[in-house]
Amino acid sequence: MDIAVIGAGYVGLVQASGLADLGHQVRLAEASPDRIEILRRAELPIFEPGLHEMFERGLSRGLITLHSDNVEASAGTDLVFLALPTPAGDGGKADLRIVEQVVDELVPGLGPDTILVLKSTVPVGTALRLQARVREAGWPGAVASNPEFLSEGNAVDDFFRAERVVVGAVSPADARRVAEVYRTLPARIVITDPSSAELIKYASNCYLATRLTFANSIANLAEHVGADVVDVLEAVGLDRRIGPHFLKPGPGYGGSCFPKDVAAMVALSEEAGYDFALLRTVVAVDELQRTRIVERAQRLVGGDLRGRRVGLWGVAFKAGTDDIRESPALKIGQALAGRGAVVVAHDPRARTTDLTMAADPIAAAAGAELLVVATEWADYATVDLAEVAKAMLDGAVVYDARNLLDPEAVRQAGLRYVGVGRGREDVPPVT
Ligand code: UGA
Repeated sequence: MDIAVIGAGYVGLVQASGLADLGHQVRLAEASPDRIEILRRAELPIFEPGLHEMFERGLSRGLITLHSDNVEASAGTDLVFLALPTPAGDGGKADLRIVEQVVDELVPGLGPDTILVLKSTVPVGTALRLQARVREAGWPGAVASNPEFLSEGNAVDDFFRAERVVVGAVSPADARRVAEVYRTLPARIVITDPSSAELIKYASNCYLATRLTFANSIANLAEHVGADVVDVLEAVGLDRRIGPHFLKPGPGYGGSCFPKDVAAMVALSEEAGYDFALLRTVVAVDELQRTRIVERAQRLVGGDLRGRRVGLWGVAFKAGTDDIRESPALKIGQALAGRGAVVVAHDPRARTTDLTMAADPIAAAAGAELLVVATEWADYATVDLAEVAKAMLDGAVVYDARNLLDPEAVRQAGLRYVGVGRGREDVPPVT
C-alpha cells in the first residue's frame, strides 16, 4: 500500500519506519526544517532503542521517502496517518489546532478513496467531527481512528508485538482497509466505531495511571504499617486476574502521555456531563506523591535542605529514554533545589539545563549527604556502592525512590538506605 505519515515526531517515526519494515511504501512528511535536515542525514532527532536501524533500513531500501510538504507527501496515497502534536490546552483539553490545520490543508489534494487516519491521541469524538468537517469541504473520503499504544524505550517491540490494533471508522469496510496494513503483525484486530477507538486509547492510559497510583498508595500505607511493598505487590500481581505490570511504586507518573491523557480524560468527561471523580483523585494523589518524596528527602537531612549537597540519579521520566517531559525525577530535583539544596544530577541519556549535571553517577554523589535515585536506569544498580560511600559524606543516606538498589548491599557499603514503601524505616513516614 502507498502510505503517507504526516509528522516525524516520536509516533510518526515509529509508524513510518515500522510500516516500511512491513514492506509498505511510506512517504514521511515533516514541517520543521531542522528536523527534516536531521532525517535527510539518516539521523534521528530522538533516541529510541532499535528505531534508528529500522529507519535507516527503510531509507536505504527506498521504502521511506522524506517530504517537507504535506500535500506532496499525501497525494495519490491510500492511507494518510496523522501523527501530529495534540498539546494540552486550556483546562487540560487537547489542543487540536495543528490536526485541523493539516486536515484542511490536505483535503483538496486527496483522492476520494484515501482514508485519513488519526494516530495522535485525540479527544473522543474528534474523528467524527473531522469527518463532518471534510464533508463540508466537499471531500468524500473517510476519517478513521487508529490509536498508538507505543511506550517510549520499547516502541519498536510494541509495534511488532502489538497485542491489539484498534481501528475505528464509520464504515467497518474502511476500518478493515486501515487494519490491512498491519495484517502480518501477530496482533488481535479490533474493528469499531471512531469514538470507541478513541476512548480505548484514553481508557488504557488512564487505567494504567490509576493502577500505578494505587500501587504508590499501597507503598505509602506500607510505610505507615511497617510492611514491605515489594513483597506485597509481587504477591498481589501473582493473581492471574491482576498480573504483574504497572505495580512498581515510585515518584508517580510522567512523560508526554499519562499526565496529558489523564487531564484530557477528566476534561472531556466534565464536558460530556460526567464527573469522573476517580480520575480527579488520581491526578491529585499522583501530584502528592512527588511532594511526599521531597518532604521525606528533607526529613532525611534533618528538616532543612538549605545549602545541603544532594545527588540525584536520573532526570529522564523513566529508564530507557532521554525524554524529560513531565519527568517526576526532574520535578523532584527542581523541588529539592527550590528548597535550597545544592543538587547535582546525573543521567545516562537525558540532559537538562535546570540542574547541574555531573559526568558520572559517582561525581553526582560526591560530597553529598543525600543521594536520591529518581529514574530506574539499570546502570545505577551496578554502580560500585563502595565507591559511592567513599564519595559521599559520612552518615550519608541513599533515598531510593524507585526501589532499584539492593537495600542490604547499600547498607553493607556503609550508607543508610530508605526506599519507597519498604516497611518502617529510620525516618517517620510522611502522612
Ligand atoms: C504510555 C503507555 O504505556 C503506552 O501504552 C502509550 O502508548 C503511551 O503512554 C502513549 O500514550 O503514547 P510511556 O509514556 O512511554 O507510555 O510510559 P510508560 O512506560 O507507560 O510509563 C509511564 C509512567 O509511569 C512513567 O513515569 C513511569 O516511570 C511510570 N511507571 C510505570 C511507574 O512508576 N511504575 C510502573 O510500574 C510503571
